[in-house]
Amino acid sequence: MASQVGVKTLKGRDFLSLHDFSPEEIRILLKTAEDLKTRLRAGEPCRVLAGKTLGMIFHKPSTRTRVSFEVGMVQLGGHALMLRGDELQLRRGETIADTARVLSRFVDGVMIRTFSHQDVVELAEHASVPVINGLTDLLHPCQGLTDLLTIEEKKGRLAGLKLAYVGDGNNVCHSLLFAAAKTGMHIAVAAPDGYQPRPEILELARGDARSTGARIEVGTDPVAAVAGADVVYTDAWASMGQEAEHEQRVKVFAPYQVNAALLAHARADAIFMHDLPAHRGEEVTDEVMDGPQSVVFDQAENRLHAQKAILALLL
Ligand code: CP
Ligand code: NVA
Repeated sequence: MASQVGVKTLKGRDFLSLHDFSPEEIRILLKTAEDLKTRLRAGEPCRVLAGKTLGMIFHKPSTRTRVSFEVGMVQLGGHALMLRGDELQLRRGETIADTARVLSRFVDGVMIRTFSHQDVVELAEHASVPVINGLTDLLHPCQGLTDLLTIEEKKGRLAGLKLAYVGDGNNVCHSLLFAAAKTGMHIAVAAPDGYQPRPEILELARGDARSTGARIEVGTDPVAAVAGADVVYTDAWASMGQEAEHEQRVKVFAPYQVNAALLAHARADAIFMHDLPAHRGEEVTDEVMDGPQSVVFDQAENRLHAQKAILALLL
């Protein structure tokens, strides 16, 4: 079984960015996620992490990431430990490196959600157990893997589809660029000037796309991006940590709202996706969120299955 091959190849790895994984490794993760989802639905236990503990550091709020990682660990026979950033000695100046060394003596893996991506890289450098990126200002790879699982479930394939990402060129957009590039999906990003994906991420994604034939387009016109798309995706206009810019961003991003008029430019069978939480009436209207093309709650559920695959294969 593909997932058994993966147990050997992925064991001990960090999960910081989808860019770090080959298309074959992403395929193994997706196959394992599908298997775990099927087994869960069949009521078949899979306690491959019996006796193992995941430490979960959160410096930002979370609903999906926290609950899906904790429930996932329990379903795999293990245990998850919530470590609030403001309650750790990190807050009083203990270094990231020392925190990594100490946690590695107690737990079998660390999931972290924080601001600076560099802090996660540093944690991973000094931890002797796998570190999983549960979102940084730069990337959200667990979401990207989940989104691949959801698109494949809904559309039956990935390569050759067109995904339109409309809105802020943020962490979620960056991980979708890698997700598409690694799997041969065409991705068209529409974002206002000044809010486009970072050039260094685009350069890496374009490098990844060379081996899969994925096409990457970045522009400012939401209608052009959505035209003929199989998947229409958006995310918050003001991410966590950008609350002070909210008022300004709402003005800049108003033409990028995913509403019925914009969605009408996509294929008739296009699906609407959002990593959530949604800001209804801002980046997406109720009619789209609650409409027949929306798969956002299936997508949210898939966080559980995708992350169980990451945990089962890496820890
Ligand atoms: N999509 C996502 O990561 O949700 P949470 O912020 O609730 O974890
Ligand atoms: N871009 C959003 C994603 C939330 C899951 C943020 O960083 O706040």
